[in-house]
Amino acid sequence: MSKVSVNLSVNGSQHEVWVFPNDLLLDVLHDELGLADVRYGCGEGVCGTCTVQLDGEPVSACLLFAVQVTGREITTVRGLLGEDDSLHPIQECFLRHGGAQCGFCTPGMILTAHSLAERANRPSRAEIRYELVGNLCRCTGYTKILDAVEEYVDSRPSEGA
Ligand code: FES
Ligand code: FES
Repeated sequence: MSKVSVNLSVNGSQHEVWVFPNDLLLDVLHDELGLADVRYGCGEGVCGTCTVQLDGEPVSACLLFAVQVTGREITTVRGLLGEDDSLHPIQECFLRHGGAQCGFCTPGMILTAHSLAERANRPSRAEIRYELVGNLCRCTGYTKILDAVEEYVDSRPSEGA
């Protein structure tokens, strides 16, 4: 099997990388592009630790080949930072509520919750809980995480306001 060239658009920057057709997006982002905020958890689509946004929707990077995502926009949690590396408001909420405990699951949690907030108008706590069902926290502080996301979605202007 020989490598092929793919162009990946990650956090607004273009990257040409040479990959094997069966190289996982997770491995290419983490190992080739050095994005430590994309993390290996289970490797089989169960834990949500490797979550990135693909055209704004959360996906498990361990379930995609890098060659499948050419021409799509990939966002990792560092893509939410401001131009001066300031924290995104949802990250501030996680800090305030202690939602990032050991921090291992936090990028995936934030990207999943951020995507929901972009898509839904003021989701309820039950809807937030449902959306995050595929993101596991080994520290198990789910209440703090839900509190953080709830504060963030409630702080956003409601649709039509
Ligand atoms: S590492 Fe991808 S879902 Fe667990
Ligand atoms: S904060 Fe430690 S795994 Fe979730």
